[in-house]
Amino acid sequence: MSEHSTLVIGQVLDIRSNPFDTPPDDAARYSRRGCVHIENGRIVDVGEADALRAAHPHARIDDHGDGLILPGFVDAHAHYPQTAIIASWGKRLIDWLNSYTFPEEMRFADPDYAGEIAARHLDLLVSYGTTSVASFCTIHAASVTAFFEAAAARNMAVVAGRTCMDRNAPDGLRDNAKTAYDESKTLLETWHGRGRAIYAITPRFSPTSTPEQLEALGGLWADHPDCPMQTHLSEQTDEVEWVRELYPHRRDYLDTYESHGLLREGAMFGHAIWLTDSERARLREHGAALVHCPTSNTFIGSGLFDTARAEAEGLRVGLATDTGGGSSFSMLHTMASAYEIGQLTGTALHPAQLLWLATAGSAEAMRLQARIGSLAHGSDADLVVLDLASTPAIAQRHSRAETIWEAVFPTIMMGDDRAVAAVYIAGARHDTGDRGGGGHNRPVSPIIADSLGL
Ligand code: GUN
Ligand code: ZN
Repeated sequence: MSEHSTLVIGQVLDIRSNPFDTPPDDAARYSRRGCVHIENGRIVDVGEADALRAAHPHARIDDHGDGLILPGFVDAHAHYPQTAIIASWGKRLIDWLNSYTFPEEMRFADPDYAGEIAARHLDLLVSYGTTSVASFCTIHAASVTAFFEAAAARNMAVVAGRTCMDRNAPDGLRDNAKTAYDESKTLLETWHGRGRAIYAITPRFSPTSTPEQLEALGGLWADHPDCPMQTHLSEQTDEVEWVRELYPHRRDYLDTYESHGLLREGAMFGHAIWLTDSERARLREHGAALVHCPTSNTFIGSGLFDTARAEAEGLRVGLATDTGGGSSFSMLHTMASAYEIGQLTGTALHPAQLLWLATAGSAEAMRLQARIGSLAHGSDADLVVLDLASTPAIAQRHSRAETIWEAVFPTIMMGDDRAVAAVYIAGARHDTGDRGGGGHNRPVSPIIADSLGL
C-alpha cells in the first residue's frame, strides 16, 4: 500500500472524448457506484468501487455517497484583478474598462492588495468547484507574483501573465514595447513550469497595444513556444471598428495578432464573437483556441457566440467566466449561460457537451489536457464532487430524473456553490462544507438507481 493512496467513491462521470464529435452516451462512461483511485496526487485508475476497494484494501476511503465525481472545473479566461468589481452596472466594453476596470487595476501596484485579491479569487473559485484558471493579471509585476504565489499555496495549476498595454490606457497602466518584453520575460523565466504554474504571454488586446508591442511579444513567444498566449478578439462590434481604425493596414482584427507572430496553437482568444469567415478559417488552420465567456457576453451586451457552429467547424473551444466582465465565478452558472446562448443560436447543448467544455475543452484550449480536465490515467487528481440535490428546487427536479444527464442538468442550470460538496486539488481534499442546501447524502432517485448505465 502507498500511504498516499486514496479511493474517492461516488457516482463517477468520465467524459472521455469530445461529445460534439461523438454521441454523448458513447463519449461518456458512467458508474453509479464508481471510484477514482488517486496515488501521489495523480489519477491511477477509474473503475467500480467494489472492485477497487477489494484490490486496494489499505487505501484511504473517501466515500461521497451519491455525490457526482467529475474532473475539477477549468476556467479558461478570467481577470482575477477584477474580482472586487464584478457586477458593476450599466456599461458596455470600452466604457466599462475605463470606468471600472482600469481604476481597479491601478491598485495592483500594491503587492499586499494584489495578494489579498489573488487569495480571495482562488478561494472563491475552489468554493465553486474550479480547480484551474487562466487569468490575466495587471501591468504590475507584483500582480503576477501575488497570483502565482497564491496558486502555489493552494497547489493549483494556473495559467497567468502580466497584462501588457502601451496605449489607450491611463497613466500608471501603460508600459512600452521594451518594458513589456523585459518584464514579461523575467516573470516567465521565474514562474513558467515552477510547480504547477504556467506563464502566458498576455497582450490585453490590440486597442491597448501598439504594433511595436505586439511585435515584441510575438518575439518573446517565438523564444518560448511552449508557453500559451492569451488575449481578446472581436468581443464587441465597436471594438472591431476601433481596431480597424487603429490598424488600417491590417486585413482584419485577427491579422493584428497574426502579422506579429501571435497566431498559432497555444493562442487563446477570449470572446471571438464577431469573426469573418476568413478569420474562422485561419483560427482553425493554426489550431488556436476560442474561449467562450457567456455570462460576460450577456452582461456587457457583446453578442451571441455560436458554440455548436465553432465545434462543427473544427475550432477549439474553451469555456470561461471572464470575471469581472462575467457576472459569476461559477462554472456551473457559466454552463447554464452557455446553454441559454446555445438556445438563442439554435442548438440545445447537451449536458455532456457543457461539462466537456467546462473541463477538457478548457484544458485543451490551455494545452493542458495531458494534466487536467479529465479523469484519464496519469492526470493530476483535480476533482469536484457535486451534490445533485443541493437545494429544494434542484432536489425535486432531480427526483424525477431517469438518466444521469437528466440528473445532472438541474444542477448545471440552477446549481451554485451549495452544490459543491468537495474539491480535490492534486489529490488533497478541500471540504467545501454544507451551506445549508439540500444535504449531501440525499439518496439518488430510485428511478435513476434502477435505470442508469450508459
Ligand atoms: N477586452 C480587453 N480587456 C478586457 C477585459 O478586461 N474584459 C473584457 N471582457 N474584455 C476585455
Ligand atoms: Zn477578458
